[in-house]
Amino acid sequence: MPNWLKNAIFYEIYPQSFYDSNGDGIGDIRGIIQKLDYVKELGCNAVWLNPVYDSPFMDGGYDVRCYKKVAPRYGTNDDLAELFKEAHKKGIRVILDLVPGHTSDKCDWFVQSSKHEKNEFSNRYIWTDSVWEAPPQYRLMCGISERDGNYLVNYFSSQPALNYGFAKITHPKWQLPTDHPDCLKTVEALKDIMRFWLDMGCDGFRVDMADSLVKNDDDKRPTARIWRGITDMLKREYPEAVMVSEWCNPERAINDAGFNCDFYLDHRGNGYSTMFRYTNYETGEDESYYCKDGRGDITVFTEEYTRALEKTAGNGYISFITGNHDVPRMTRTLDDRAIRLAYATILTMPGVPFIYYGDEIGMRYIEGLPSKEGGYSRTGSRTPMQWNSGKNLGFSTADSDKLYLPVDTSADAPTVENQTGKPDSIFETVKSLIRLRRENPDLQPDAGFEVIYAEKGKYPFVYRRGSLVIAVNPKGKAVSVEIECVGEKIFEIGTASLSRGRLVLDSQSMAIFKS
Ligand code: GLC
Ligand code: CA
Repeated sequence: MPNWLKNAIFYEIYPQSFYDSNGDGIGDIRGIIQKLDYVKELGCNAVWLNPVYDSPFMDGGYDVRCYKKVAPRYGTNDDLAELFKEAHKKGIRVILDLVPGHTSDKCDWFVQSSKHEKNEFSNRYIWTDSVWEAPPQYRLMCGISERDGNYLVNYFSSQPALNYGFAKITHPKWQLPTDHPDCLKTVEALKDIMRFWLDMGCDGFRVDMADSLVKNDDDKRPTARIWRGITDMLKREYPEAVMVSEWCNPERAINDAGFNCDFYLDHRGNGYSTMFRYTNYETGEDESYYCKDGRGDITVFTEEYTRALEKTAGNGYISFITGNHDVPRMTRTLDDRAIRLAYATILTMPGVPFIYYGDEIGMRYIEGLPSKEGGYSRTGSRTPMQWNSGKNLGFSTADSDKLYLPVDTSADAPTVENQTGKPDSIFETVKSLIRLRRENPDLQPDAGFEVIYAEKGKYPFVYRRGSLVIAVNPKGKAVSVEIECVGEKIFEIGTASLSRGRLVLDSQSMAIFKS
C-alpha cells in the first residue's frame, strides 16, 4: 500500500470545466496548474483528472483515440508532465483516468481491427465471425465495416470493447478464452500505457469501468485475476502508484483484484444511495436519509458498509465521494444544510474521500441543458467551475457563447469568492472538516469505525472513530438518544449537546465529540 494514500484527500477535476488559461472557452492543463494553490488551500493533497487524452469526445473523453497523447484542446504532453512536477512541488499527487474496457472507434487499433486483412489488431476487439452472426444477447454494431463481422460495444456505440476474452464461451467460433495470446496482448498493451504515464510522473490511475474487462463474467473473478496481474506488476515496478477502481464491489476490487481504493457509488438501493441520493421513482421524492424530511433506512448503509469494511480491512479503502461527473450534484435534491451534514459524514468516514470540483461550494446541478459530448443527464453536473463574480464567474475570458458549457446564471450562484470567510457556507465547512481530518489521526483512512446508534427508520446516526464520537441528525426535527459516551465538542453544525449520557441534536445538526 503506497504510504501517501494513508492521509490522502482527493479532488476530482473535470479538465474541460475547471479553468481556461488561454481564453478559448475550454478548461485546460495550464489552467489546472494555475489553480493548484487553490486545491492545496482547500486541503486536498491529491487530484484525479478525468480523461485528458486525444479523443473525438463522443463520451467526454472516455472514448480514447490515442492513449499516449494529451488532447490538443487541453495542451500537450509536456504541459501534463509540468502539471505532475508542479503538483509534486506542492505536495499534491496526480492520478489519471485509465479507460481499459474500450477505445474510441477512431482509435488506430480499431481502424486496423476493422480491416479485411488479418493483422496484429484483428483480435484486439471482439468481433463475430460474420455480419450475419449477431446474437441478440450481445450489444453489437452491425454492417459498418469492411471486415465481415460485428463488433461488441462496451458503452456507447462509438466505444468498441477491447478483447480480454470470455469467461463462459457460448459461441466458440469467435469468443476467445482469457488466456488466448491475443487477449494477453491486450493486457500487455494496457500495461504499456500505464508505464508510459507513470514514467512521466503520474501517481496512479482511477480505472474506468474496472469490472468490464472479461465478457460473460458473472462473478467477476476472471476480471479480477487480470487486474491482479497488473497490480502485482505495479507493486514491483511502481510501488508508489495508486489504483482506484470504479467497481463498487470492494471485496472483488480490493481483495481479489488488488486495487487500493474502490468507489462507493450510488447504485440504486445500495447503502450509499440510501444515505445521500435515494429517489423514489414512483413518487419522484427524495427519500435519502440525509434529506431534511427523508425516510431513508440508515441500516441499509450501516450493514452493507460495515460488512465491506471488515472484509477489506488492511487491504485497501472504500472511497466515499461527494459526487462525480456521472451523477447529479447533491444540490439537486438536498438543501445546503443537508449537504454540509452529508459532507461532514463523508469526510469523517474511514478510507480515502473524493471531492468533485465545485461540490465544495455547492455548485448546482443545472437542469435542462442539451447534452454535451455524450453527457446527456450528466451534463448538468459538468458546468464550469465558479470562481468569482468576474466574467463567466472567473472560469474563462472567452465570450459566453464560446464556453464549453454555460456557467450557472442564477443571481445567487455560489462562487469560491462569495463563500470565502462565511462560516456557515458549504465551502468553509468543507475546509474546516478537511483540516480536522488531516490534523486528527482518528479521522484518517485506517483508524477504526464503529456504529454507536443506527436504527431502521430513526434518527440520529452516531458512530465512533477512535477517541471521537460523531453524531448527525439530518432530520428537520430535534432528536435525542441515550448513549454511553462522554466527550468535549470539537466541531458542530447547528446545535448539539452531550451530557450525562444524553445526546441532543437540533433539527439538521451534527457534532464531533472528543473523549
Ligand atoms: C464511466 C465513466 C463515465 C463514462 C463511462 C464509459 O462510468 O465515469 O463517465 O461515460 O465509464 O467510459
Ligand atoms: Ca483553454
